[in-house]
Amino acid sequence: MTKENVRLGTVQETLLIPLYGRALDARARRPVLGDTEAARMVERIDYDFAKFRGPSLGGSVLRSAIFDGWVRRFLTEHPDGTVVELGAGLGTRSHRLDNGRARWFDLDLPDTVELRQRLLPDAGPRTTTLAASVLDTDWFDRIAETGGPYLFVSEAVLLYFDDARVRSVVRSLADRFPRAALSFDTAGAAMMRNQDRNPVFKAVDARMTWTCDDPKSLEDWGLRLRESRTFATPQPEVARTWPRRHRHGMPLLARLLPPLVNAYRMNLFDLEAPR
Ligand SMILES: C[S@@+](CC[C@H](N)C(=O)[O-])C[C@H]1O[C@@H](n2cnc3c(N)ncnc32)[C@H](O)[C@@H]1O
Repeated sequence: MTKENVRLGTVQETLLIPLYGRALDARARRPVLGDTEAARMVERIDYDFAKFRGPSLGGSVLRSAIFDGWVRRFLTEHPDGTVVELGAGLGTRSHRLDNGRARWFDLDLPDTVELRQRLLPDAGPRTTTLAASVLDTDWFDRIAETGGPYLFVSEAVLLYFDDARVRSVVRSLADRFPRAALSFDTAGAAMMRNQDRNPVFKAVDARMTWTCDDPKSLEDWGLRLRESRTFATPQPEVARTWPRRHRHGMPLLARLLPPLVNAYRMNLFDLEAPR
């Protein structure tokens, strides 16, 4: 089988880290996500995935499981709703969680989308891949056509922008999609300081830049924080699906090394209408 080559920008290349994490999980005896599509894509891509090591691989799987929990709940409440992945990478959430009725958008930069379309074509008419930047707004009309309600999910993306850019993304979304839900992860100083020691970041050039120690402080930007979770405090219905080593191991780790676990948070916000 000829493998697919990858030509990705510096930040775009980081999508291969969670992809590999999910592929390893799919091969595990007791998977968390069981993302067999990720395992298939890793087999097809010509890339030295073995250079990625360390806890961030498993961490990216737990992170996706927590975001999945919010998407599942959204679809229970709004089965015809619209889920928008901002910086989708080679994420397979629409494949994992589709309910046969929802609308899905997977947005990412053109080089990532080019790779995505080679490996993971749109599943059907309710799924749309958009080549665009989350920093622009020219794609808003495509999303608004569905009429909502909307859940925006941005997993391991905003961390690569500076504070002003993240704020501008949030403000633009709030102005155009007031009352929509927005979920994204935040990293505090303790995590940012450790990047150069993190084995996965030793293998790539990209570095995260946006530090946020307290997601509650983002309420000043026109957000209302509904939930903020760490790997030690997933939704109970999500925790129930995790193997014991995560379900019990993460709270133990949080007691032993609180800054390490508490610095990285997955958050669910409501966007507020402009005042
Ligand atoms: C660490 S990866 C995360 C990918 C995916 N969310 C996941 O969890 O598997 C970061 C992603 O952000 C995307 N990205 C970076 N800058 C972007 C931008 N300005 N607009 C849209 N996507 C962007 C990259 O192409 C990449 O897919």
